[in-house]
Amino acid sequence: MGTSIRPRRLEHIGLVVRDLEMMVEFYCETLGMQVSDRMPYPEDAPITEGVFLRCNADHHSISMFGARNPPPAVGDDRNEGKLGMHHVAFEMASFAELKAAVRYVRERELPIRSMRIGGPGCQIRIYFWDPEDNLIELYWALDKIGWDGRSRPWPPIEEIDIETFDIEAWLEWKGPEFTTDSLDPAWEREWTVDKAPT
Ligand SMILES: [Fe+2]
Repeated sequence: MGTSIRPRRLEHIGLVVRDLEMMVEFYCETLGMQVSDRMPYPEDAPITEGVFLRCNADHHSISMFGARNPPPAVGDDRNEGKLGMHHVAFEMASFAELKAAVRYVRERELPIRSMRIGGPGCQIRIYFWDPEDNLIELYWALDKIGWDGRSRPWPPIEEIDIETFDIEAWLEWKGPEFTTDSLDPAWEREWTVDKAPT
């Protein structure tokens, strides 16, 4: 046995949702995602339709499936001890983009769980819940595993406010591979918004 399955990357997730149109609208509005395709299911299928959403040139990063007969809503379902997916994370193109996202989330009064640095991976991040209580993470500057094949010993998790955070001091600790302008956010926006077919 010389080989094993070896994926290149985790590339998209599929979610079954209670209110498909509301969830699609939320991800398009809040995260600027776009619908690449819709695929209706037969009437006897447990799913009504699949909607495939993109946030870059890849065809989809989330596929969302409408449950035909969802179980009754239980109200607030933000118990983090529940089984299954804990959260889904999106990388932001720059610290400026992450900061702008935090402003947007606050202005929309979306339910914020926390903003943090530290812990495994040492990325700077915000967590909030979508309308069906899936936990979303937006982050920037996740550690890479370098030539020695080891992860960096992580500092303790620390609660922060991204809008007032001293990013320059943090980047001095973080290392030279991350800078506040490591990717041009304008380029990303052009691809995902301006050039996309309507
Ligand atoms: Fe995460």
